[in-house]
Amino acid sequence: MFENLQAQPADKILALMQAFRDDPRADKIDLGVGVYRNAEGITPIMRAIKSAEHRLWQEQTSKAYVGLAGDPAFADAMIRLVLNNAVPRENIAAAATPGGTGAVRQAFEMIRLANPDVRIFVSDPTWPNHLSILKFMGVETVAYRYFDSQSGGVDFDGMMADLGALRKGDVVLLHGCCHNPTGANMNLVEWQAVIDLLNDKGAVPMIDLAYQGFGDGLEADAKPTRMVASQVPECLIATSCSKNFGIYRERTGMLMAVSRNADATALNQATLAYLNRQDYSFPPDHGARLVSMILNDSALRADWTSELEEMRKTMLGLREQLAGELQRLSGSDRFGFIAQHRGMFSRLGIDPEKVEKLRADHGIYMIGDSRINIAGLNRETVPILAQAIVDVGA
Ligand code: LMR
Repeated sequence: MFENLQAQPADKILALMQAFRDDPRADKIDLGVGVYRNAEGITPIMRAIKSAEHRLWQEQTSKAYVGLAGDPAFADAMIRLVLNNAVPRENIAAAATPGGTGAVRQAFEMIRLANPDVRIFVSDPTWPNHLSILKFMGVETVAYRYFDSQSGGVDFDGMMADLGALRKGDVVLLHGCCHNPTGANMNLVEWQAVIDLLNDKGAVPMIDLAYQGFGDGLEADAKPTRMVASQVPECLIATSCSKNFGIYRERTGMLMAVSRNADATALNQATLAYLNRQDYSFPPDHGARLVSMILNDSALRADWTSELEEMRKTMLGLREQLAGELQRLSGSDRFGFIAQHRGMFSRLGIDPEKVEKLRADHGIYMIGDSRINIAGLNRETVPILAQAIVDVGA
């Protein structure tokens, strides 16, 4: 039977991660997978996570199953973190998921269950795994313009023109902050225009919020999501704790479904539990428990927030340094957008052949579309990258 299987295309991000590991060069630089690294190149366990793990180890007395939607304390804490009071709690259904990808997958499942013929509008470009999962599920996608490769900013006019084709019941996938892979983000005025258009068309927003706290801060990064959730009749929000709590391998995420009445919320909640049961029964609990412990303890929360702020500011500093170096070496402002972008990623707009040359000649690894992970850099490697970009004639 299994001889009928066909080899699937490798995930570009994960394939690059492996190629980097296999490269024997000592001075290689990894700007591939979206994992935060400090100046020493280490992905640290955050201090608050260490403390919470220690406390959990001392206090936890059972590993028996929790509910299908996960620990209710985790749901409450995440809803406060993401939505604050933008939507009444009774209008939000929520279920823990294995990481942000789990939340995205369950969101797509819920959408397909509600409407098997749905069309999901996705930004061009978007996180490649969005497209891969949707293709695997057989869900129709429609690309909307998003990135202006000339300016490095959002092609807002193109986006609005393409969203003009929305029909009632279509879903629009939006990145809540820190757009992956481009790093280019809408301002709040543009967000409002998108919300108005979606409401006008009767389309449903789905927000992927995987990098809250990595752009302009925890509150600012949640603002567009709160605007959407408070103004539309219904929406889905897929969140991840992988990056902002640094608990990648613990697989900690949450899917929220916002509606406007209690009956719809009850149905959404039951559907989320049902979907979890079909796919993996109970979601992982360890990371979720650490997160709710941190968010509910003022000292742990303050420590977590300050470490997250340090990480965010480090990335911003690296952005400014890289934009400055490229300006100095190339004598042009072409790469000025790097300092304007937010989050872990920037799409540099370099041709694939030059991306390959950077890898082959300089041991610098970035995704083929020229997405770099800013956190893969440090003060010493920024000038090396800038020089290499100029050397390959990008
Ligand atoms: C990325 O885009 O690099 C991250 O979201 C990691 C992943 O799973 O692809």
